[in-house]
Amino acid sequence: MSSRLEAENLYKVFGRRPDEAVERLRRGADREELRAEGTTAAVIDASFTVEPGQIFVVMGLSGSGKSTLLRMLNGLLEPTAGQVRFDGQDLTAISDRELREVRSHKISMVFQHFALFPHRSVRENAAYGLEVQGVPRAERERRADEALALCGLAGWEKSWPDELSGGMQQRVGLARALATDADLLLMDESFSALDPLIRRDMQDQLLDLQKSLKKTIVFITHDLNEAMRLGDRIAVMRDGSIVQTGTAEDILIRPADDYVASFIQDVDRSRVLTAGAVMDRETRGDEADCGCETATPDTPFTELCAISARLTHPVAVLDAKRKLVGVVTGQRLVGFLGDEQTAPVSCDSPRDTDGGKAVARA
Ligand SMILES: Nc1ncnc2c1ncn2[C@@H]1O[C@H](COP(=O)(O)OP(=O)(O)OP(=O)(O)O)[C@@H](O)[C@H]1O
Ligand SMILES: [Mg+2]
Repeated sequence: MSSRLEAENLYKVFGRRPDEAVERLRRGADREELRAEGTTAAVIDASFTVEPGQIFVVMGLSGSGKSTLLRMLNGLLEPTAGQVRFDGQDLTAISDRELREVRSHKISMVFQHFALFPHRSVRENAAYGLEVQGVPRAERERRADEALALCGLAGWEKSWPDELSGGMQQRVGLARALATDADLLLMDESFSALDPLIRRDMQDQLLDLQKSLKKTIVFITHDLNEAMRLGDRIAVMRDGSIVQTGTAEDILIRPADDYVASFIQDVDRSRVLTAGAVMDRETRGDEADCGCETATPDTPFTELCAISARLTHPVAVLDAKRKLVGVVTGQRLVGFLGDEQTAPVSCDSPRDTDGGKAVARA
């Protein structure tokens, strides 16, 4: 299976002599050095792949280059160097006309600020992408209404944007992207302007839609909790470069550097980790033989804690074929909830027979 989207050694430099700047970056110059000369290295040597049906999140602080990277993915910005391949087609090598075609049929963008037309109805807004494609009115209205219904806006088709709350307006933006049937959705801070509760609601809705629609999504955010909730894979950007790419668990358990580690301090680990990430794969006992409750690698951390509390021995983790793939002690659960992933150091004290539960309950 080939990747849906591939970015290979992408660079974007704003300012004078961008090609020369890329050469200097390749030789090890950093962003600050170029900035001193009035040149901005917005994206530096970014490479990643996104598989069909994945949500790929790009996370980073303001100015780290996220929007610039996203705009290169649909050709709104031309890379200074590097390639973008969409379904194997090199978007940096095709004509402007072909690029417009790809952009109107295969890639949709959802922005942070709803970007709705105030003098068009909700239905007309949702149908806008189809109108650009030249789809006849009756069909585009039917497809717009379907997309609005998917986004929970059935009954609002004839309303005006200013009659809708912020969350509802953002859903119209999402419906507009979904109505075009585009395979690839590019979402730039699409939920950032929303109140926390509505934002969570939108995240849930996106995850829910994604279960049936299975779009390929690149989602930009500066919020690590949002990244961890939504992302099948996450790229962390710093000063124009991607410093780590991995699953939420990879990033939590093995942060690539101190910068990423400082980011994840405030993340609620219990919401991200699963049994597969915290289990001990080496020390396997007979925990699965007693008929007690067991977990699977997908069991969420909180559920795992509940199971552990009901058992007097470590939790057995079984795969789909009911084969024991690891065990989780109470001690290990406590360790992962904090910041500690190393195995306990052995000592001469009497063996802890309850798998660390005493600590867990303390
Ligand atoms: N058209 C442009 N011309 C010059 N510099 C630009 C341009 N667009 C972006 N930049 C610079 O490139 C850097 C990265 O900007 P970008 O908008 O990609 O960051 P971002 O991560 O999306 O930030 P934010 O979270 O604030 O949206 C910034 O220093 C910005 O000033
Ligand atoms: Mg941005």
